Amino acid sequence: MRNISFNGVENELKRVEEQFESHLITETPLIHKVAKYVISSGGKRIRPILLIVSAKICGYTGDSHIPLAVVIEFIHTATLLHDDVVDNAPLRRGKSSANIVFGSEASVLVGDYLFAKSFKILSELNNSEIIKAYSDATTLMAEGEVKELVKTADVKTTEEDYLDIIIKKTAVLFACASRAGAIISGENGACINNLYDYGLNIGIAFQLMDDALDYISNEEFGKFIGNDLKEGKLTMPLIHAIERADKKEKDIISEIIYKKKLTAKDLKTVLNLVKKYGSIEYTVSRAKESIEKAKKNLDIFPDSEYKTSLIDIANYIIERKL
Ligand code: IPE
Ligand code: IPE
Ligand code: MG
Ligand code: MG
Repeated sequence: MRNISFNGVENELKRVEEQFESHLITETPLIHKVAKYVISSGGKRIRPILLIVSAKICGYTGDSHIPLAVVIEFIHTATLLHDDVVDNAPLRRGKSSANIVFGSEASVLVGDYLFAKSFKILSELNNSEIIKAYSDATTLMAEGEVKELVKTADVKTTEEDYLDIIIKKTAVLFACASRAGAIISGENGACINNLYDYGLNIGIAFQLMDDALDYISNEEFGKFIGNDLKEGKLTMPLIHAIERADKKEKDIISEIIYKKKLTAKDLKTVLNLVKKYGSIEYTVSRAKESIEKAKKNLDIFPDSEYKTSLIDIANYIIERKL
């Protein structure tokens, strides 16, 4: 991953990249084509890195962390393929999304392939605790995406609803990555639980930052995109602003959220309200709180280069611009 140090795991990450390829060879070349297109398009690999470093911090010396890291990125890739169809996203990682290049049908089906293949790879490790960890995570992720869909354009969405959605759709996969590292190391309950909580807390911060960046990142580059708003997605910045808005402002926001097509003026109106109520600062401060909790979850581990890497990953999440 760019921008963060992940001392001592570069070789392992290379092995993970090599295995992506071998698991995508099938009799149906479209699978390889679509999956390769997304996997090679410059993802940060934060989840595989997390998994490998978590295994290392627990003293793991075997080989199973490589397929586990492959699977965590496959699952992530499958959810992105599906998510971009659901969100009508034209871009992913700065390139046309797979649904634009290959169509929604291919995106959905290759996403399914990656999910199925993930569990096939996992089953070969003969570790029921691992299977349980991954199946718990993917079930919750699917539930989170469905709950988000149900809450589309619902101005009554609360912070509690939002947090439940982001824990499920995003944070549990981070938690699964860090917990899996502890599980294969044969670690005790405290290490497993602390690494799980660490992953969950950085995952929550990750999505909070992602949702704050949807309102601000492009401003730095001279424009405001507001994709979440366009899709009727109520995320923390908007929920916070709605909670504080007066009746007239609430009505304006409701009207804009229900619109099928937003104008530049609509976007500006909402952005101004989000600014007026300090909602981006609030969202970032909630992300920072989560990162502080995550670092505390690491207290049980003695100092090591791996602990430093986990702290770096946590810090990177609140510093990232992409
Ligand atoms: C994007 O995740 C999806 C979210 C959970 C917001 P990443 O930002 O980790 O995606 P890549 O793999 O680095 O592109
Ligand atoms: C992504 O959610 C989280 C997933 C589980 C796929 P978003 O829809 O908020 O993420 P981006 O902005 O498309 O990456
Ligand atoms: Mg999306
Ligand atoms: Mg989405």
